[in-house]
Amino acid sequence: MPKRTASTFARDDLPASAAGATGAPHHDIPSREPPGETRELAHRPGRQSEGLTGVVGRLRVAQAEQTIPLGQRHESLAECQVDAAPPAEGERLSKVTLVINGRQRQLQVEPRWSLAYVLRERLGLSGTKVGCDRGECGACTVLIDGVPRYACMTLAVELEGKPITTVEGLMRGEELGPTQQAFVEEDAYQCGYCTCGQIMAAEGLLRATPTPSLDEIRKQMSGNLCRCGAYPHIFAAVGRAAELRKGGAS
Ligand code: FES
Ligand code: FES
Repeated sequence: MPKRTASTFARDDLPASAAGATGAPHHDIPSREPPGETRELAHRPGRQSEGLTGVVGRLRVAQAEQTIPLGQRHESLAECQVDAAPPAEGERLSKVTLVINGRQRQLQVEPRWSLAYVLRERLGLSGTKVGCDRGECGACTVLIDGVPRYACMTLAVELEGKPITTVEGLMRGEELGPTQQAFVEEDAYQCGYCTCGQIMAAEGLLRATPTPSLDEIRKQMSGNLCRCGAYPHIFAAVGRAAELRKGGAS
């Protein structure tokens, strides 16, 4: 079976029209710039919250044009400095060092910026997807301290020094990691929009429970929605990933 590269999984968001037809769960999809409300953090089995009672502010899509140029996204330096966008009037920036996929990233962030926004729009790590942007779908799942969390509901400023793993961090050089490979082998996606989040949820489960039961798999993956209904294949992929991580070939 041909292997896929990181770019397969890290492809960027679908156009809004395509997402509505084939991709992100579209029930009650909010505007990316709702009028300043906060929302309660969704509590789902297998998902731990950061204890936030709401999201402070919303992401400013208007800042997307200030993303890091493509050629600067994957430099091999152990540490890099990323300039933040100038704050709007009345806003303040906080200096934070994020440890993402084993690399230190020093940034200045607005306290209201979510980790999902920083990963995608400030650092160019577009493998982390944004579906609902309010803690319901799991498309944005990353590992923080090895535990799956919703990046859209986690403030970047809170993550000083904590290890963060994104789907890009599961690669082994140019090869897929075992959890990624298992999703390919089991055909565990259709449109693929939820897939990066599903993979990260599975990775978190397998790090804690190397040989999970089907019930454990179902419980863990319940925080990640798949609008395409690929769940049987997703559950099979998690089981296959457990085998691959142990070096099993069958
Ligand atoms: S984008 Fe849906 S939970 Fe984060
Ligand atoms: S939402 Fe399409 S594969 Fe999950």
